[in-house]
Amino acid sequence: MELLDQIKERAVRLQNRIVLAEGTELRTLKAAEIILNEKLAKIILLGNPQKIEELTQKEKINISGAEIIDPLTNTKRQQYAEMMVEIRKSKGLTIEEALESLNDPLVFGPIMIKAGDADGEIAGAINATGDVLRPALQYVKTLPGVSVVSGVFFMLFKNKAIGDNGILVFADCAVMPDPDEKQLAEIAVTTAKTAKKIANIEPRVAMLSFSTKGSAKHPLVTKVANATQIAREMAPELMIDGEMQLDAALDEEVGRLKSPGSQVAGKANVLIFPGLEAANIGYKLVQRLAGAEAIGPILQGMAAPINDLSRGCSVSDIVNMVAITSNQAG
Ligand code: ACO
Repeated sequence: MELLDQIKERAVRLQNRIVLAEGTELRTLKAAEIILNEKLAKIILLGNPQKIEELTQKEKINISGAEIIDPLTNTKRQQYAEMMVEIRKSKGLTIEEALESLNDPLVFGPIMIKAGDADGEIAGAINATGDVLRPALQYVKTLPGVSVVSGVFFMLFKNKAIGDNGILVFADCAVMPDPDEKQLAEIAVTTAKTAKKIANIEPRVAMLSFSTKGSAKHPLVTKVANATQIAREMAPELMIDGEMQLDAALDEEVGRLKSPGSQVAGKANVLIFPGLEAANIGYKLVQRLAGAEAIGPILQGMAAPINDLSRGCSVSDIVNMVAITSNQAG
């Protein structure tokens, strides 16, 4: 079965409560109808109920079965605001400021999750990545033992000889502009776990650079070599190797030549890029020029799953992301 079919099948079993924070956005409403029809999740739409009603009537979209919550009038506002003040007390957040922030669905969604009223959230069809992420980072925060949230893409290839049965996992393509060596190590370990959890891949993690095993000397190379060492100490059970160039990671012959004896070189299925620039450009190159399907970014390391859509997303991208978010919630 294809990866997305497996993910959807699991989502149907899980029946998690997923918040769609952009409830008055047309693609989101069309996606909600499909999700409800396919029973992929329980849907909570945030937004003005009258506006949602008008849009669904005009576009003949049936979202009966979805819960609609207006962040401006919801009865839990006071309770949520008190919780926010408690979480942000070291930052001096006042109850008035918290109530004001709750008017924003991008804040209301993560707070619902924090309060146990939802299991996951997606947004980003009409909001920038930073605006979706900031409240999630501030209120939902990271998993115990994790300090860095990062973003993974599952790159799906028609050619099943690539990666693990046609799947390569790329990170961090979405969040940390310039991770230090400890953060890079953490991204590698977290990504390996995500590869296993979402796609049941036995991860072989390549820490990418423009150098393989000291072939070039530069502080950027040292950063990746040190990150590799730290990642191995963090998770000795994982197959992690680097620093290595992309050809050494993916091509068996080059891998043997440049990194003899490596468990990863030539056979990598998880690629950890040294920074956001390389990763973001890299996944888009592979998507555009190699025709791979890019599933993500799937945000990892957060205490509950919150995912960011691209503003160019399609209705089916939203449907898929709801299924993935539900899988992450477990
Ligand atoms: N992991 C965990 N916590 C984080 C992370 C992270 N990666 N980044 C920031 N935080 C925390 C901070 O510690 C801070 O917590 P605090 O308020 O409790 O002290 C809070 O989140 C806010 O952080 P700031 O640094 O103040 O917020 P800022 O907006 O500057 O940065 C953000 C966070 C939004 C993630 C920023 O790094 C960003 O915009 N990253 C790039 C996102 C992007 O544009 N990606 C490319 C597009 S996505 C795509 O093409 C697929």
